Amino acid sequence: MARKIVITGGKGGVGKTTVCANLGIALAHKSKRVLLMDLDIGLNNLDVTMQVEDKVVFDLVDVIENRCRPSQSFIQDKEEPTLYIMPSCHLAKRQINAEQIKRVVSRLEDNFDYVLIDCPAGIDSGFRRAVACADEAIVVVTPHLSSVRDADKAMAELIGNTPVSIVVNRVRGDLVASGEMLSPFEVFSLLGQTALGVLPENDDVNCNMRYNNAAFELLADNLETGKCELYDCVAPYKGVFGRLRRKLKRNA
Ligand SMILES: Nc1ncnc2c1ncn2[C@@H]1O[C@H](COP(=O)(O)OP(=O)(O)OP(=O)(O)O)[C@@H](O)[C@H]1O
Ligand SMILES: [Mg+2]
Repeated sequence: MARKIVITGGKGGVGKTTVCANLGIALAHKSKRVLLMDLDIGLNNLDVTMQVEDKVVFDLVDVIENRCRPSQSFIQDKEEPTLYIMPSCHLAKRQINAEQIKRVVSRLEDNFDYVLIDCPAGIDSGFRRAVACADEAIVVVTPHLSSVRDADKAMAELIGNTPVSIVVNRVRGDLVASGEMLSPFEVFSLLGQTALGVLPENDDVNCNMRYNNAAFELLADNLETGKCELYDCVAPYKGVFGRLRRKLKRNA
């Protein structure tokens, strides 16, 4: 049986889809069998992030409405052979509910170690539908008070005792070092939940949404082992050379 984990966060644009995609890549890199499921129905873009949008033949709604088997909707990742994407659709003619999706997940989960579910922004019906299909939740938050507040609201909406862990995304080590940005530890303590990972702001992100970097490797390790080794975004900005790097970054 797969671990079914929803990647949520409340606020829009905090990096839920980016984390879902790149965590999937990092887990598959460790030979885990991973399915990425896009439950952001309507505003889906996991297929774009994973660069497979031109390969979509069948989607989740086709599976639910019995036009194909679950495996026919899977798209294998171009680099990781154990990573698959199940796309969603822009328009669902009928309302899709959590029970229908759960039935699909129960048909396919024996083939995977992880099913990572990309959740829509907000805490309304789309959010509730996505979290109902998972046993665990990763809450993605950026080091800004508005994001922390929305993450807190999302956590309050999580069902029963769903285990929750936190990933702080888009941390700028130079700004944390100069005290201009909340540190990941401040964010963890404000939210009072298990810390799972820290991800730096990635300057290359617009060119390549596949990060495959050390921070995601650590995140995947933590998820696998239950350990909590966090990526140190501030390390490059400490000491004499660090101060120089900070200056250069500020003037860039
Ligand atoms: N660590 C990062 N460094 C730089 N850019 C990032 C980082 N994480 C995410 N982004 C960028 O932020 C934007 C929003 O990311 P993403 O689509 O993953 O957010 P989301 O939470 O899924 O948004 P939505 O709520 O609309 O679904 C994208 O352009 C993405 O490339
Ligand atoms: Mg998204």
